[in-house]
Amino acid sequence: MIEINNLKKCYGERTVLDIPSLTINDGEMLAVAGANGSGKTTLLKILGGIIKTSEGSFVVPEKILYMPQNSYAFHGDLIKNILIGGADRSRAFEMLDKLELTHLAKKKAKSLSGGELQRLSLCRVLSKSCDLLLLDEPTSACDATGAELVIKVVTEYKEKTGCTVIISTHSPLLAMNASERLIILNSGKIDADGSPEETLAHPGSQWAKSFVAGWKI
Ligand SMILES: Nc1ncnc2c1ncn2[C@@H]1O[C@H](COP(=O)(O)OP(=O)(O)O)[C@@H](O)[C@H]1O
Ligand SMILES: [Mg+2]
Repeated sequence: MIEINNLKKCYGERTVLDIPSLTINDGEMLAVAGANGSGKTTLLKILGGIIKTSEGSFVVPEKILYMPQNSYAFHGDLIKNILIGGADRSRAFEMLDKLELTHLAKKKAKSLSGGELQRLSLCRVLSKSCDLLLLDEPTSACDATGAELVIKVVTEYKEKTGCTVIISTHSPLLAMNASERLIILNSGKIDADGSPEETLAHPGSQWAKSFVAGWKI
């Protein structure tokens, strides 16, 4: 279980994240939506141990995998790019196959398109096992087909491993169809929290209401 208590992140005078209390159950698939600058990346980075909180505490499982918002490529081909993260070779090939990158396996990772690079970044993460998977906007560079594939593979991974998944996203498809729970962040605070249906029906604030306007299940 993930438990957050009175968590705050401040930069100078500015509080960019303020979560009094939040519990996420084991095996839950949670989407975090919200405008640019609402604190999604900050939340994921804190849970992933990449940055520190200013105040408060949180409890997370031991084995965590984190996919950053900005995908990157190391020198070398796609296989090298996955193995560099410490993955098992057969798992790396399996993930390349699932994410439809096998035909590019021997190409230089730096030559990939944005959408391909994002799927490679996901391969790097999903080739390993974890208790908590943190994905920061994993479909932002994907076309519609690519986004559907990413959602399918992440859902499969979650079902197979039973890990908890937290995904920050702007994608209504990911937030509404793939997730079991949807949180909406507004200036670092939680405006809505519930099943996608509940959040859509009761957005919690006028701001959240206009944010999800037009979203459908
Ligand atoms: N290192 C930093 N120094 C100062 N402000 C920061 C820093 N990192 C993030 N911020 C600010 O924190 C706010 C939340 O950022 P972020 O979590 O990246 O938002 P989101 O991922 O929802 O777009 C933004 O206003 C951003 O400018
Ligand atoms: Mg972000």
